[in-house]
Amino acid sequence: MLAGKDILLIIGGGIAAFKSLDLIRRLRERGAAVTPVLTRAGEEFVTPLSVSALAGQKVYRDLFDLTDEAEMGHIELSRAADLVVVAPATADLMAKMAGGHANDLASTLLMATDKRVLIAPAMNVRMWDHPATQRNLATLTGDGILTVGPNKGDMACGEYGPGRMSEPLEIVTAIEAALTDGPLKGKHILVTSGPTHEPIDPVRYIANRSSGAQGTAIARALLTLGARITFITGPADTSPPTGAQVIRVETAQQMYDATLNALPADAAIFTAAVADWRVTDASASKIKKDGSGTLPTLSFTENPDILAKVAQMTDTRPPLVIGFAAETDNVIENATTKRQRKGCDWIVANDVSPETGIMGGSENDVTLITDQGPEDWPRMDKTAVARKLADRIAQALTA
Ligand code: CTP
Repeated sequence: MLAGKDILLIIGGGIAAFKSLDLIRRLRERGAAVTPVLTRAGEEFVTPLSVSALAGQKVYRDLFDLTDEAEMGHIELSRAADLVVVAPATADLMAKMAGGHANDLASTLLMATDKRVLIAPAMNVRMWDHPATQRNLATLTGDGILTVGPNKGDMACGEYGPGRMSEPLEIVTAIEAALTDGPLKGKHILVTSGPTHEPIDPVRYIANRSSGAQGTAIARALLTLGARITFITGPADTSPPTGAQVIRVETAQQMYDATLNALPADAAIFTAAVADWRVTDASASKIKKDGSGTLPTLSFTENPDILAKVAQMTDTRPPLVIGFAAETDNVIENATTKRQRKGCDWIVANDVSPETGIMGGSENDVTLITDQGPEDWPRMDKTAVARKLADRIAQALTA
């Protein structure tokens, strides 16, 4: 299963680094190539010579190594692999990853990669339990980073508890699972997400409260099932999923153009909260108040309905087109009409009345409407909704 796979292995500075030497051996025994990266702190625990001897290739250590840049730049290094593994992932490396730092080779590679990342945390039990580490872990998991361990047990520092790095064979199993092809392998799925911003003038715009959380969670769940994702996002609060092709847009018109450009696709999921109107002739310079008490008047033009346009295409219509219906009244009735009016296959309806706390919150309460009628799902967090929807999509596309 690992034969022919290329693993970029980042070895952090912890006592568990000695186990990474065995990990390299186990991976190579199974036919994988290992490209090792050693942090400065990692060098205090294992030598570059032993790492490179076991890996059978040079060990990368420095961000500003001109020879390496001439041979293979850090961007390329981070993308040539099938999977990036961080073992041991120290508290410091996890903090850097969660904070988006790029101040050495390891952290820069982790920021630049477009591949999945698996971390094997290892640290003292108190450091693991520390709220900062747990906060960073939650951020990393939310970003789609995979984890293995840590295990509970006696630690090198004499304490007992969770913090021991997983054993090399456990990490090998996690690597195999991360590289396993899911049911959506070979399928291209387009996801729109977030709000759009419609300019009034160069400094002002009209926006909405969408955070992009549900769209990001859906894209992540589909990535986990092996799909290739084009993620077209407006200016959202949530960071886009690792491993997707991300296209950032501002306006509805840009989102529409990017969507057409991304076709053909096997499925398209429109989770974006697209502004229905844009300001006609947005001003090229800042609108000033002139002191006369006369207020500016804005006139609006309707934006393209991206979902409806794609659902009604005759040539490149994706076989499965899914819309969302954010409603405040008569949810099922309005969403059922919306499904017919827009011509999509499924519509995911939800009640976004302020008292539900759904818009901008972490939970969602949805009804899936298909040609079989409405199907009420229990209230669950947005990640669980995403997983359930991704499973349904996989069933539909592989039936
Ligand atoms: N949508 C879209 N392009 C637009 C407007 C909406 O692609 N210009 C998509 C959304 O991504 C969502 C679905 O259409 O999947 C429904 O969006 P919603 O805002 O609920 O519907 P509206 O078209 O605005 O209809 P209404 O004004 O009746 O609520």
